[in-house]
Amino acid sequence: MARMQLQDILFSQGFGTRRVCAGLVQQGMVIVNGAVCDDAAADFEAQGLHFAVQGVAWEYHEKAYLMLHKPTAYECSQKPSMHPSIYTLLPAPIRQRGGGAAAGVQAVGRLDQDTTGLLLLSDDGKFIHRMSSPRHHVPKVYEVTVKHPVDALQVQKLLEGVVLDDDPKPVRAAACVQTGELQLSLTLTEGKYHQVKRMIAAVSNRVELLHRSRIGGLLLPADLAAGQWRWLTVDDLASISAPVSAAALPDTLNETSAATLAR
Ligand code: URA
Repeated sequence: MARMQLQDILFSQGFGTRRVCAGLVQQGMVIVNGAVCDDAAADFEAQGLHFAVQGVAWEYHEKAYLMLHKPTAYECSQKPSMHPSIYTLLPAPIRQRGGGAAAGVQAVGRLDQDTTGLLLLSDDGKFIHRMSSPRHHVPKVYEVTVKHPVDALQVQKLLEGVVLDDDPKPVRAAACVQTGELQLSLTLTEGKYHQVKRMIAAVSNRVELLHRSRIGGLLLPADLAAGQWRWLTVDDLASISAPVSAAALPDTLNETSAATLAR
């Protein structure tokens, strides 16, 4: 818990340079706890602070952890080549947090431009590293629609392991369930380039639609429409890190323990 000057709070949350932030406060554009505060040096307990800048409601987050429902025809790159960047779906302060060359949040791994579904973003380098590291084996669930009818042999091969062109070591699905004539639910614990598409091609089929529905124990919420984002809650963070054994979690999960799990 730390008290911070209002101008520093705004700066840390991505509302511009310190000078711009001080100016916003002095011009009466910042509301804190329901009242205009025009003293840039006024200090507040930052954690959990609710404020509004030029009418936009905001909540202080020391680190940013969010989920995005990635729509199709968006690229997970800051410098996209064909389609708009997913970063354009986020408000400017989230893209600018922290300032400097590495400003803003980054996607935790990438989805192809034509893949939809759950994508995590953060400005916490350790979290991104942990989540992306193959050592951590965070299971990711993909709903796959294929071109040709699925058969039992394809499912068996995906579970036993298929060889992809760049690596002689077979890759296998941690789980593979046929959910329709042309549908599979595939769980992977690694994130190789185009992995689902290449695994499906290796069993002589072809991906037509690809949607990521789950990361660890975290499901894409049904009420988060394509293109929308939201902050991850303490419970969301805990469920990513503890996908299988909920019993391993402390009974009373508080802000601190979830933040620790996140790191
Ligand atoms: N596997 C793929 O082939 N594409 C994705 O976007 C994600 C996993």
